[in-house]
Amino acid sequence: MKKLKLGILISGRGSNLQALINACSENNYPAEIVLVISNKPDAQGLKHAIEANIETQVIEHNNYSDRESFDKDLNETLYASGVELICLAGFMRLLSGWFIEKWPNKIINIHPSLLPAFKGTNSHAEVINSGVKISGCTVHFVTKDMDAGPIIMQAAVPVLPNDNKDSLAKRILKSEHKCYSHAIRLIASNKIKIKNQLVIDISGNKIDEITFNPSLE
Ligand code: GAR
Repeated sequence: MKKLKLGILISGRGSNLQALINACSENNYPAEIVLVISNKPDAQGLKHAIEANIETQVIEHNNYSDRESFDKDLNETLYASGVELICLAGFMRLLSGWFIEKWPNKIINIHPSLLPAFKGTNSHAEVINSGVKISGCTVHFVTKDMDAGPIIMQAAVPVLPNDNKDSLAKRILKSEHKCYSHAIRLIASNKIKIKNQLVIDISGNKIDEITFNPSLE
């Protein structure tokens, strides 16, 4: 089986990366991780990649005077490794429009809220402060607008009365780990496409798997 080549971008802990490493180790999983890049040298996630014998690179954004020169090196490194799909997994840096245009519909992200609600980097605290009773996670294609590209999968997760941002983040993270590998499976098995900014199955119908909700399993 020809596997889709993934490049994973991280900045920190790397628990989503670990979940993807686990998924890729399954026999019939249609994707493989060929490269992990961190913009921070001390990212814990780098250790997960090294333990799994996956190539790692550190491209430290602090060494660059502007976003575009960082993104140019990032682009060259991903391209040289034969990456076909870029997966942002806790990568806490905005990518330039230039970079995103180089990889049309080839970059996906996981975000810890039910987009389009609670975009940005403070989602859990904003969810708690807003009083909503359900949050969750979203896997989506990356476009020039932050946290706004076509949605591939979502999982709903309850917000409990005594939650604080850390307890909520922990509960949502479990669903993230299931959602991300599932969304990548859909892409790698050519089951989905984008039409009018919406993700649909390849024959034009809505498919069950897109609405599959891992938190309800
Ligand atoms: C995850 O919760 C991910 O959804 C979030 O950062 C965390 C990274 O955890 N990403 C964003 O907030 C992107 N805007 P991890 O390093 O353990 O995968």
